[in-house]
Amino acid sequence: MGSGGVSDWLDGIIGEATVSPFETILLVVLLSGALMIVFYAIRTGVPPQSSGRAARQALLHLLPDTIDGPIVDLGSGWGALVEDIGERYPENLVVGYELSPIPYWISCLRLKLKTRPNVEYRRADFLKADLSEFRAATCYLMIGAMKPLASKLLELPDGAVVVSNAFSLHGWEADETITLSVTGATNYYRYIVRRDPGA
Ligand SMILES: C[S@@+](CC[C@H](N)C(=O)[O-])C[C@H]1O[C@@H](n2cnc3c(N)ncnc32)[C@H](O)[C@@H]1O
Repeated sequence: MGSGGVSDWLDGIIGEATVSPFETILLVVLLSGALMIVFYAIRTGVPPQSSGRAARQALLHLLPDTIDGPIVDLGSGWGALVEDIGERYPENLVVGYELSPIPYWISCLRLKLKTRPNVEYRRADFLKADLSEFRAATCYLMIGAMKPLASKLLELPDGAVVVSNAFSLHGWEADETITLSVTGATNYYRYIVRRDPGA
């Protein structure tokens, strides 16, 4: 269907109102964007919902004062958490992995508007990425996505720190948990990577 056809179709739905070509294009772009967000939320099993301010503070609180290497946000959404981590650790490289194109593009755009030399985004599936360079990881996923992550995180070096918003890591024992009533009694977890607990 051409732009005129879409316009006629919308006219048919809306009735008397006339839809200009500009409005038609805008509507098509917005609808495609929304559909793409939904498609990737279904594909990954996680919607691109940002950790709120209080949650981000809790996650930052669980991270150590200094981290000896790069930090990764696994599923960085719109970039809010990556930006906060980047500000707190200006000497560390902070990487956000994000598969969903629109949140990824928006986070890159935010980076263009406010340059953060230590922050970068990678549009990729973190489950297929090599995570061995990272000394700390953050995540805010869903139960289904936490299962494959639990084994993937064993790629991190021994002693690396993992903090998770709301969802615990299957088969891991948290080193510290905090609960915030302001975020509806949500738990925030910290784990330390121990590949060989008996060693
Ligand atoms: C709930 S958002 C969290 C955003 C950000 N970390 C925060 O706390 O504000 C989770 C994001 O993870 C992304 N995601 C889920 N699984 C992924 C995967 N395997 N690889 C890359 N991104 C993924 C989703 O697209 C979604 O945008």
